[in-house]
Amino acid sequence: MISETVEPVAAGRSLAKEPISRRVGVGPWSVDAVFVTPPRDSEMSLSRQAACLAEELAAAHLDRDLDAVRLATVMPSGRPIVLVDGIPTRVSVSISHLQGLVGAALCDSAGVGLDIVDPAEAGRGLDAWFTPDELSLMPDEHGLLRALLWAAKEAAYKAAHLDSEFRPRTVTIRDLSAAGFAWIAQDRFADVRGTGCFIGINRHIVAVAATPARRALLQSQTRFPEAYRP
Ligand SMILES: CC(C)(COP(=O)(O)OP(=O)(O)OC[C@H]1O[C@@H](n2cnc3c(N)ncnc32)[C@H](O)[C@@H]1OP(=O)(O)O)[C@@H](O)C(=O)NCCC(=O)NCCS
Repeated sequence: MISETVEPVAAGRSLAKEPISRRVGVGPWSVDAVFVTPPRDSEMSLSRQAACLAEELAAAHLDRDLDAVRLATVMPSGRPIVLVDGIPTRVSVSISHLQGLVGAALCDSAGVGLDIVDPAEAGRGLDAWFTPDELSLMPDEHGLLRALLWAAKEAAYKAAHLDSEFRPRTVTIRDLSAAGFAWIAQDRFADVRGTGCFIGINRHIVAVAATPARRALLQSQTRFPEAYRP
């Protein structure tokens, strides 16, 4: 149920001064992402700045006026969706915001999840959320293992669209490398599988996760590669 719509945000004014745009290949899918370093003196919250980026991405992708596009929140999960003229669209969007970087990602053929992690804030304090198998997926030569794992888990959770609460232990990361990862997210009702990749933006690690769009899966389970079928 959509019970909360983010107030009109970007209408007519772009916040992105020098946006960093990326088109990322995630498994078989193409994801558009945009990032901006938020001005320290901005009156707009980081959440609102990320929502603006998502609306700008969606307006450009859907070739619609910016003031027709709104980011809304599915409650109670908190998952963002794109509305055009108040009607939900089939594009998947995800946002992430830190003091040093905000970003948004969009995909029209897969569920997408974006997460930004500052490696300086992803230390051994996170270990309770990782299994021994996850911690041994790759050697921690550069001290980035935990940041990669945490970004991957949060991006995977967002992409899975399970709309149940985030329990890091129910998102399992597999086949981790500095380039990407495979994942499974589970709740009482479903197991969702997907893939992901990492990009570096400034000093941040950015994980982009993707999984087959659930509506498309219901229509035809044959449109996606074997590895991504449930
Ligand atoms: C997803 C989550 C882990 C991200 O937290 P974070 O890494 O600290 O923050 P990020 O900046 O990277 O991401 C925040 C964005 O994730 C998105 N998000 C939140 N919940 C989401 C969900 N269930 N699915 C997909 N995206 C979600 C929102 O767009 C949010 O932006 P907002 O805070 O401006 O609304 C956190 O928001 C969370 O735990 N959400 C679940 C809430 C919950 O348990 N709801 C009840 C269960 S039904």
